[in-house]
Amino acid sequence: MLFKQQALLRQKLFVLGSLAIGSVLYFVARVGTLDRLQPICPVESRAFPPEAEQIPLRTLQFKRGLLHELRKGNATKEQIRLHNLVQQLPRAIIIGVRKGGTRALLEMLNLHPAVVKASQEIHFFDNDKNYARGMDWYRGKMPFSFPHQITIEKSPAYFITEEVPERIFKMNSSIKLLIIVREPTTRAVSDYTQVLEGKERKNKTYQRFEKLAIDTNTCEVNTKYKAVRTSIYTKHLERWLKYFPVEQFHIVDGDRLITDPLPELQLVERFLNLPSRISQYNLYFNTTRGFYCLRFNIVFNKCLAGSKGRIHPDVDPSVVTKLQNFFHPFNQKFYQIIGRTFNWP
Ligand code: A3P
Repeated sequence: MLFKQQALLRQKLFVLGSLAIGSVLYFVARVGTLDRLQPICPVESRAFPPEAEQIPLRTLQFKRGLLHELRKGNATKEQIRLHNLVQQLPRAIIIGVRKGGTRALLEMLNLHPAVVKASQEIHFFDNDKNYARGMDWYRGKMPFSFPHQITIEKSPAYFITEEVPERIFKMNSSIKLLIIVREPTTRAVSDYTQVLEGKERKNKTYQRFEKLAIDTNTCEVNTKYKAVRTSIYTKHLERWLKYFPVEQFHIVDGDRLITDPLPELQLVERFLNLPSRISQYNLYFNTTRGFYCLRFNIVFNKCLAGSKGRIHPDVDPSVVTKLQNFFHPFNQKFYQIIGRTFNWP
């Protein structure tokens, strides 16, 4: 008798336990799928692209999950056909600037449910061999997406490569172009730090930044040094303006993207005519990394790789001042062209 009662009690406990665990799992999964789509204001009040307007939020979220499976190679051809998935040419490109925060910008924009990123730098327009492979090759490098979504790729070499503006223009003369910039001297040092790390990894020696950035014969800024040339933003932009009107560019403040990313991302959302969907919830400051990291949902967070956010070497302050003075007039011209100023010296 006693044995029977104990068995009954165990059975009841098992059922209750299962119910409790089931409820917790359901709650976690539900919050996990919904939080990314919690609009910060009602959807109706936003200018939604027409195709996306018809898609309920939950469907969008489901589709996002499917895209994730596709990236992992788990989706079948049947699913691709069934869900009308396509590889689309980019409607926006982050063309530069190297070390401006291009990866952070791409990853952060990818938080938006209507954005799909090309994970790798494709180097289609700056690399003659790739360009010769043609537009179908380029399209084939794009991720699968739903027709209402926009694909974005980033290849920072585009900004400084002579042939690229014309080539992009030939593909799509109304494409949106994103440029992320940082204070020019800081960007040049960041550029140097990346190369230095590469040399050290190969046990090679490398000159100090000061030696490369300043011509020892003239004691003037060495404009032959690539890290210096890349930071003369106005020179490169002027080449692009031969093909595209200034309204087709949006300049992102890379220094602000580090310290306070959301307002910069909201400006980009507006430039891309996307409803405002990236919220403070999606971005959290990670004290260990010293940078903002990305929160997709309650279970999935990620920070950028350790190669982003390197410690820069100390640079002689007189060289820093010399470089800042050198960049100053170019910066003024840049501000004038883009209609936005930055707190650069
Ligand atoms: P540093 O390594 O000099 O700090 P890119 O992706 O164009 O190569 O740019 C790299 C820069 O992105 C890094 O330069 C870093 O400062 C900046 N960055 C901006 N937001 C970041 C983030 N959330 N996490 C890591 N790096 C970020």
